[in-house]
Amino acid sequence: MRKQVIAGNWKMNKTHREAEDFIQTAKNEVPSADQVESVVCAPFPFLQKLVEETEGTNLEIGAQNMHFEESGAFTGEVSPVMLKELGVKYVVLGHSERREIFKETDEDVNKKVHAAFKHGLTPIICVGESLEQREADQTMDHVESQVKKALEGLTNEQCAQTIIAYEPIWAIGTGRTATAEQANEVCTHIREVVSNFVNADAADAVRIQYGGSVKPANVDELLSQSDIDGALVGGASLEADSFLKLVEAGK
Ligand code: G3H
Repeated sequence: MRKQVIAGNWKMNKTHREAEDFIQTAKNEVPSADQVESVVCAPFPFLQKLVEETEGTNLEIGAQNMHFEESGAFTGEVSPVMLKELGVKYVVLGHSERREIFKETDEDVNKKVHAAFKHGLTPIICVGESLEQREADQTMDHVESQVKKALEGLTNEQCAQTIIAYEPIWAIGTGRTATAEQANEVCTHIREVVSNFVNADAADAVRIQYGGSVKPANVDELLSQSDIDGALVGGASLEADSFLKLVEAGK
């Protein structure tokens, strides 16, 4: 049985005070980590404080991006070594906003995934098609290509430990959720891709999240699907009450 992993992605939101208030409300209310993995992926400036405040609780902290190099002349970037040192456990990689706005390539994402494993961070690798690609019937091919390129060169064990987030771009922040069947169809395909590209054990173990306008009202149906093992949530993860409902659904 794969454990569900519910990750909030705050994106570039919240003041320090708001982040603090959220964590104080949520940190002792999330279910046991034996039942569900509860993660908040916060902006860099909040990470240290949030890791300290959640120590010993069932709430884990993740980052939303990182560079693949350990150090060097990369002004404005944050390295995996720095995240590890802070006690961060997860890192979102290849989010469509990074790919679209900041021009991250599949090759960059692959390097970052390798760097995450080298430094003991669990990567949440985002893949997903645009509306144009969906309408042109290219969803499966596009997602397959993104998954293979992200996993290239990893060991089978690393592939098994990866979290893949399927996020159709047209469903992100739009209020337009993929139907549970649409989401599951692609997640099933991703599992088949992992099975063929790596092996059946890795496919069985890899956790595949759905992301794109997930909220308390639709999370149960999404999580009940055969190949959906959690959610990567933007807007509905910003309020502690709503986040807590989502993690409860993951139990
Ligand atoms: O990483 C999260 C996704 O981009 C989904 O965002 O829940 O606001 O649609 P959303």
